[in-house]
Amino acid sequence: MKLFIDTADIDEIRTIASWGVLDGVTTNPSLFAKTSGQTYDEVLQEICGITSGPVSAEVVAEDVDGMVREGRHFAKIADNIYVKVPMSVEGLEALARFRSEGIKTNCTLIFTANQGLLAAKAGANLLSPFVGRLDDINQDGMIVIRDLVSIVEIHELDAEVLAASIRNPLHVTQAALAGSHIATLPFSVFQQMVHHPLTDKGIAQFRADWDKARKALEQKAGTAAGAPGAVR
Ligand code: G3P
Repeated sequence: MKLFIDTADIDEIRTIASWGVLDGVTTNPSLFAKTSGQTYDEVLQEICGITSGPVSAEVVAEDVDGMVREGRHFAKIADNIYVKVPMSVEGLEALARFRSEGIKTNCTLIFTANQGLLAAKAGANLLSPFVGRLDDINQDGMIVIRDLVSIVEIHELDAEVLAASIRNPLHVTQAALAGSHIATLPFSVFQQMVHHPLTDKGIAQFRADWDKARKALEQKAGTAAGAPGAVR
């Protein structure tokens, strides 16, 4: 499963890229709103300089012509831009137009497998069901991931499932087991995935044992050096 980071924060993206685990980036207007000092275009340009993987840039227009205008603009920023289009009647038409122009897309705000099926047929390259937001309303978001992955594979659709709205490490494991092609994670979830109390305890224990062994050797060498007849 490919791992994307769900952020517009350049430092977070650089950090995950430095770990060697970054396959792409997803942004949206809410994530961009958390950044400061740069335009959305500038942020996208900088992100595309960090990763050659897909970088999602979301349109805010709600009409087809507006979505197409914004999407064409984003697509000129870099070759790895994927225009993020919300699931709607207008969004489907925009997806179809982007496909005819060779512009890559990510259909967002998917909450059912049927919405994902429509998006794939309209030409979306990436299908983004929101797992966490379904869990929030007491529905199992992972079922949509599992069902949509099966639909894509059974019918050999030319699209990948991207598990979005991931809130914790368990979501990541479940998305991977459900066969999701991609998951996009907040920075905090990447950090949580690294750690386990026994790993952290084990590292501290190895360090303590190593220091103890070295100290014992140094003491032994010191005693030998101080012994009568020792070579200096
Ligand atoms: O990229 C959009 C999606 O991941 C949003 O997540 O946590 O706001 O539901 P969240």
